[in-house]
Amino acid sequence: MEQERQHQGRENSGWCSQVKLWSGLVISIVLLSSCFIVSCVATYHFTYGKSSRRLSELHTSHSSLTCFSEGTGVTEKNWECCPSTWKSFGSSCYLISTERNFWAQSEQNCVAMGAHLVVINSEAEQNFIVQQLNESLSYFLGLSDLQGNGNWQWIDQTPYKDNVRLWHQHEPNFSAEECASIVFWSSRGWGWNDVFCDTNRNSICEMKKVYL
Ligand SMILES: *[C@@H]1O[C@H](CO)[C@@H](O)[C@H](O)[C@H]1NC(C)=O
Ligand SMILES: *[C@@H]1O[C@H](CO)[C@@H](O)[C@H](O)[C@H]1NC(C)=O
Repeated sequence: MEQERQHQGRENSGWCSQVKLWSGLVISIVLLSSCFIVSCVATYHFTYGKSSRRLSELHTSHSSLTCFSEGTGVTEKNWECCPSTWKSFGSSCYLISTERNFWAQSEQNCVAMGAHLVVINSEAEQNFIVQQLNESLSYFLGLSDLQGNGNWQWIDQTPYKDNVRLWHQHEPNFSAEECASIVFWSSRGWGWNDVFCDTNRNSICEMKKVYL
């Protein structure tokens, strides 16, 4: 009799601790996964909310975006997107326009696509861009001196004085030429030249990448 009760008691306490163990496990799993879901939703809202306005803006002028990711950790992956026909470099996307227009119209065409005429911030950026260009054409830049007083200004308000200047030698040389272009001269390679704004040229548009 005594033996049996002891035996039952041992069985009971074994069963009890198993229940405790399992319910503990289940509760932890539920807690962990709800934390995970909450943090996923938060991250999603945080990153998607910021870029969704630009995304929907871009969707009006670009039918598809190409995105790629840099970084190793799955959770830290940053998706960088450009319109599918644009070239990607650094934090920007570039379109080499095959249309020839006056400077102001070229800028308007870029703006209609959520971009602006290109602003060249470094020699590396220019080296990337010129690989996409045709050596027998010239392309408007987002750089102008619309008062003709030598006060060159970038279209995105980047201070001209802080930027690289990659003018051809002896350029700019004529105050009536109030817009800047990039052109290949066989003696010197690619460089900037001042040109009349109301001449038809190709152009380069630039926009910031969308990060997802
Ligand atoms: C470069 O432009 C010239 C003049 O428009 C054109 O004839 C030539 O085919 C172009 N070259 C390339 C590689 O696109
Ligand atoms: C300015 O340089 C261009 C070469 O781009 C040359 O054809 C033009 O004659 C020069 N103009 C003046 C006023 O020096």
